[in-house]
Amino acid sequence: MISFMATIQSITFCLLSLLSASISSVDAISVHGSPSIALNFKGTKSSNSHPIPSQGPITLWCATEGQKILSANFTRRSETRGGVERRHIGVVNERNATWTINHPTILEAGVWECRVETQFGVGTFNTQIYARPVAQAEEGDSYSEDGQKDYQLQSLPVEVSRGQSKNITCPALGHPVPTISWSKDGHSLDARRVNISGNTIMINNASEQNVGVYTCQAMNEFSKHRYLLVIKKELKLKSDLAWIVPLAVIFVILCCLVTVIFLCEIRRKKNEKKRAESEVAILED
Ligand SMILES: *[C@@H]1O[C@H](CO)[C@@H](O)[C@H](O)[C@H]1NC(C)=O
Ligand SMILES: *[C@@H]1O[C@H](CO)[C@@H](O)[C@H](O)[C@H]1NC(C)=O
Ligand SMILES: *[C@@H]1O[C@H](CO)[C@@H](O)[C@H](O)[C@H]1NC(C)=O
Ligand SMILES: *[C@@H]1O[C@H](CO)[C@@H](O)[C@H](O)[C@H]1NC(C)=O
Ligand SMILES: *[C@@H]1O[C@H](CO)[C@@H](O)[C@H](O)[C@H]1NC(C)=O
Repeated sequence: MISFMATIQSITFCLLSLLSASISSVDAISVHGSPSIALNFKGTKSSNSHPIPSQGPITLWCATEGQKILSANFTRRSETRGGVERRHIGVVNERNATWTINHPTILEAGVWECRVETQFGVGTFNTQIYARPVAQAEEGDSYSEDGQKDYQLQSLPVEVSRGQSKNITCPALGHPVPTISWSKDGHSLDARRVNISGNTIMINNASEQNVGVYTCQAMNEFSKHRYLLVIKKELKLKSDLAWIVPLAVIFVILCCLVTVIFLCEIRRKKNEKKRAESEVAILED
């Protein structure tokens, strides 16, 4: 009986310590904060050097139920880009902490965590900054709006040599991370014929089969809306006769040179003849 009681006691103790451990790992104080925000872009193109701007400013805030905040930090959780995110120190006003982004861009889209410290412990609150999909152009990429349609982009044709490999990427950026679907020349892609990895189609041993217009559709959803971005890329096979062009240029230059030399020679001969004739004339005089 005593050993039974002891077992019960130790089990209870164990459960209690587990419970307290889980409580201490959860927030000690309750924090609430700003509702999610959707960025508002004019246009669809972004790049690392010129991230697409949104109308600003945006203020994130979080507040306790009454406890005085000692310090507060706002951090964006990166979904698409690796690396350490910068911590922004919040402006504290008693039990409310704020962080204002004066010039928000697509780079601010994501999950933001507000972490506050009070004398009763630490609390966190997460909020979302949403962004519809936009095209993140890499160095050397060029996209143009495709006709009159909104959110349709077309890139310059991509070229590949026969037998080479090439990656065709759908550079969509957004929060939530857009889902990507591909089609080629209006038909959904045959997964047995192409390797698709994430937002990239990898083409090995390129041939006529691979030539065509690849279309990627990037989609995400928030605030009960669905947002689409369509990007078209045409893949062309570099002509096997491409070497002919430089050769032809060299050939034409050579022809010109030969002609010039030939003409000069004729002229020289003519002049010599004239001189000889005039000398003869002088002698006859
Ligand atoms: C905290 O401050 C922000 C910005 O001034 C304000 O919009 C928000 O309503 C405040 N929250 C509370 C709970 O007072
Ligand atoms: C916020 O960041 C500062 C400086 O990095 C740090 O001293 C402070 O403890 C942090 N506060 C919270 C609530 O994480
Ligand atoms: C395509 O992408 C894969 C995976 O990122 C990489 O290993 C491969 O080298 C790339 N191929 C080309 C032609 O860039
Ligand atoms: C897909 O990639 C694998 C490994 O990179 C390769 O062995 C296979 O042939 C590729 N399939 C196609 C259809 O290109
Ligand atoms: C590449 O494709 C050609 C025909 O399109 C084929 O003859 C050749 O064996 C292929 N090479 C490789 C490495 O798969």
